[in-house]
Amino acid sequence: MRTIAIMNLKGGVAKTTTTVNVAAILAHDHKKKVLVVDADSQCNTTEFFHTPSGEGDLAHLLRDADLGAYRYVRGTSLPGVDIIAGSDDLMDLDLTKVETNVVSSTQLRSVLSIFAAHGDYDYCLIDCPPAFNAASAAALLAADEVLIPIKLDAFSLRGMANLMRQIDNMREINPDLRLLGFLPTMWYPCRHTHESETTLRDCGYPVLPHIRRTDKADAMTFAQRPIIETSPRCAAAIDYRRLVRELLKGGRGNG
Ligand SMILES: Nc1ncnc2c1ncn2[C@@H]1O[C@H](COP(=O)(O)OP(=O)(O)OP(=O)(O)O)[C@@H](O)[C@H]1O
Ligand SMILES: [Mg+2]
Repeated sequence: MRTIAIMNLKGGVAKTTTTVNVAAILAHDHKKKVLVVDADSQCNTTEFFHTPSGEGDLAHLLRDADLGAYRYVRGTSLPGVDIIAGSDDLMDLDLTKVETNVVSSTQLRSVLSIFAAHGDYDYCLIDCPPAFNAASAAALLAADEVLIPIKLDAFSLRGMANLMRQIDNMREINPDLRLLGFLPTMWYPCRHTHESETTLRDCGYPVLPHIRRTDKADAMTFAQRPIIETSPRCAAAIDYRRLVRELLKGGRGNG
């Protein structure tokens, strides 16, 4: 099982849009078994997938972990995609809860290793919150790779140094964590986006093939169905399919 944390401390950069669409394409087009983990208290991914209510969610797993691993998993509206749901309770899990041992940030890793050992899933995608808290720490400890959706503007590029520092810190406890790449989202052709991509590459970062900006992305959130269903011919649907082909090659962005 390949575990990818989808992370950026900046809000609104398409972390959730990327998580749900990559999961849908892996499952639908490539018949992969996918587990999604919603690590964000906003629960956008959990709602998007029409997740049924259940007894265990991620906050419970990080705090108590007293259910068997499989009782944290629920089915979703998409065949081939299961979820460990988010909940409001994630809001209370700031980093002090890790320091005071109220929360174990390695618990997610332990549960995922059970699924990996049984070959239950091909991919696990973790939708992270726009903040560094106990859930994002748990995600980076559990992940093999981190994918960073980024909107190519000056605000995002300036916030990157902070994120890279957090990832470096996590490597002290998860030395195998690798940067899969930056994923330019809401991309449109202009001098700034080209220059920003060049800046990232010049810094030695892998850059994945971009996802174009489209108003169909908002429509998808209302329909609560992946963009390959709601607008299969739109630019973002084509680009997410291209991204997934790249991921399946095992590939990092060209850096
Ligand atoms: N390719 C795109 N083109 C245009 N709009 C997009 C695109 N991808 C996502 N969006 C829109 O951007 C907004 C933010 O997307 P999303 O919720 O996925 O970001 P996020 O990083 O998960 O946000 P948060 O940090 O709050 O969790 C949504 O309104 C979404 O519809
Ligand atoms: Mg989100």
